[in-house]
Amino acid sequence: MREISSAYGRVVVGAQAELFGEALKITLESRAAARPGRFIWALTGGSTPAAFYKWCVETRALPAELAAGTHFTVSDERHVLLSSADSNFGNAERQLLSPLGVPTDRRHPWMVAWPVAEAAEAYRRTLLILAGPGRAYDLCFLGMGDDCHTASLFPQTPLLKDDGGLLFGGQEVPGKGWRLTITPSGLRACGKVVVMALGAGKAEALHRVHRGPLDVANVPSQVLQTCAERVVWLVDEAAAAKL
Ligand code: 6PG
Repeated sequence: MREISSAYGRVVVGAQAELFGEALKITLESRAAARPGRFIWALTGGSTPAAFYKWCVETRALPAELAAGTHFTVSDERHVLLSSADSNFGNAERQLLSPLGVPTDRRHPWMVAWPVAEAAEAYRRTLLILAGPGRAYDLCFLGMGDDCHTASLFPQTPLLKDDGGLLFGGQEVPGKGWRLTITPSGLRACGKVVVMALGAGKAEALHRVHRGPLDVANVPSQVLQTCAERVVWLVDEAAAAKL
C-alpha cells in the first residue's frame, strides 16, 4: 500500500483485500479509543461497502466480540422500508449484521416509516442517548458517488451551506425522494471517518475532490476538509489513477 497527501485526509492506495484489512484495523483502533461498551459504528450504502461486508463474512475477519459489542447504524438512509434492496440499513443487516449474529438491541436504523422531520428528530434523540451531547459516531464509513456526493449530501444540498449545527438531518432531494443523513457538523463530530472508493468509475470524482478547486456546494465530499485530520480514504489503483 502507498499513501498520497491531500488536504482532505490521508489517502491510502492498495489492492481491495489490503484496503479492507486496513478498514478493519482502523475499526479496531476506533473501538479501542471509544468508551467501553459504547462503540458506535456507522456503515453506509453503495457498492463498495457491500463488497466489504462480503469480505468480512467470508474471511470471518471481524472478531466476534466486536460484532456483539458494537452499536451499528448507517450514515444516511433512503425513504424505503428496511426490506427494500435500496435500504442502506436493510442491506447492512442482510449482508453483515445478521450473518454475524449482531444482537437486535445493537442495531439502530433510521426511523424510515415517519415523515422526514420527525424521523430526523427521533434519530437525533437516539444518538444523543447513545453517543452523548455533541458527539456523532466513533467511526463513520462513507462511500462517494460519481457526482462527488457522500452520505446523502448531494451537490447544492442546503445542508452543505447551513446545517444549523445539527449532527443529523433530513431533506427532500430532487429526483430521489427524502433522505436522512449525517450533516457536515455531524461529520466533524465523528471520531474517525473512512471513505471507501473502488474502481475506475471513481477516478474522476476523486480527482475533483482532491485535486480540483475548493467548491463544497458542487463537490460535497470536499466538506471533509474541515475534519481532514480524522479522515482516511481507502482507494484502489484504478480509482487513484488521476490523483
Ligand atoms: C447511498 C450512500 C451513498 C453511496 C455513494 C457511492 O445511500 O447511496 O450512502 O453516499 O455511498 O453513492 O455508492 P456506490 O459505491 O454504489 O457508487
